[in-house]
Amino acid sequence: MAPNRSADPAAEVALGIDVGGSGIKGAPVDLQRGVLLEERFRIPTPQPATPERVAETVGKVVDRFGWSAPIGCTFPAIVKNGVVLSAANVDRSWIGTDGAAVLGSATGCPVTLVNDADAAGLAEIRLGAAAGRSGVVLVLTFGTGIGSALFVDGVLVPNTELGHLQLDGHADVEDWAAASARERDSLSWPEWGKRLDRYLRHVDALLSPDLIVVGGGASKRFDRFRDKLRVGAEVVPAKMRNNAGIVGAALLVGGSP
Ligand code: BGC
Repeated sequence: MAPNRSADPAAEVALGIDVGGSGIKGAPVDLQRGVLLEERFRIPTPQPATPERVAETVGKVVDRFGWSAPIGCTFPAIVKNGVVLSAANVDRSWIGTDGAAVLGSATGCPVTLVNDADAAGLAEIRLGAAAGRSGVVLVLTFGTGIGSALFVDGVLVPNTELGHLQLDGHADVEDWAAASARERDSLSWPEWGKRLDRYLRHVDALLSPDLIVVGGGASKRFDRFRDKLRVGAEVVPAKMRNNAGIVGAALLVGGSP
């Protein structure tokens, strides 16, 4: 039986939960250092991933840590004031759902809900690859979809959704350049790197960022495709790896981005 954790602001620990298309995972996070204090606990995302079934699964992750204090939670969609407003890669019944309220009543804890890429970006800008960087910083995550987090002098511009731009006849660029497209089309890392470069040159032309951070599983393979990147902006791999969502969500507890 896990010990019961109640609110202790002095401890500077919060529970971060990352809701993804294939897994729901969480862990308590040391907010100073951005590290997980216990091994993360992961449960496969139920299918269909309806609000009720996701809430039940999030409840199991919370129970695993005996948590009864505020929680930060990511969601792979537009989230405004806790309400989910899109559903590119999740069950459409989420649209219009007050996700923070649904997860709050399932867990008995106050829940701060945030877009998954915005959470990962926050982790990178506070503690990871973009720490200490000012100006325009764009963090992009490559997974099932493409997530984006835009920062101006460290302040988040939420819900930018740059994975859904049109490019070269692709109505939705994430269908062509996400990590899932690399697997679906059996591309080598260098082949995918060419698509990535085309996409990065497009966002560079739109936003002229000072720094682009490439996140998701591709960050581990950066050396395999970095020589394909001709984009003018500085591009670096993410540092927080698989835990960026958990850490970023936890950082949001008790504060705004
Ligand atoms: C969603 C974004 C999300 C991204 C990564 C996109 O399809 O629209 O909200 O951040 O996938 O999960």
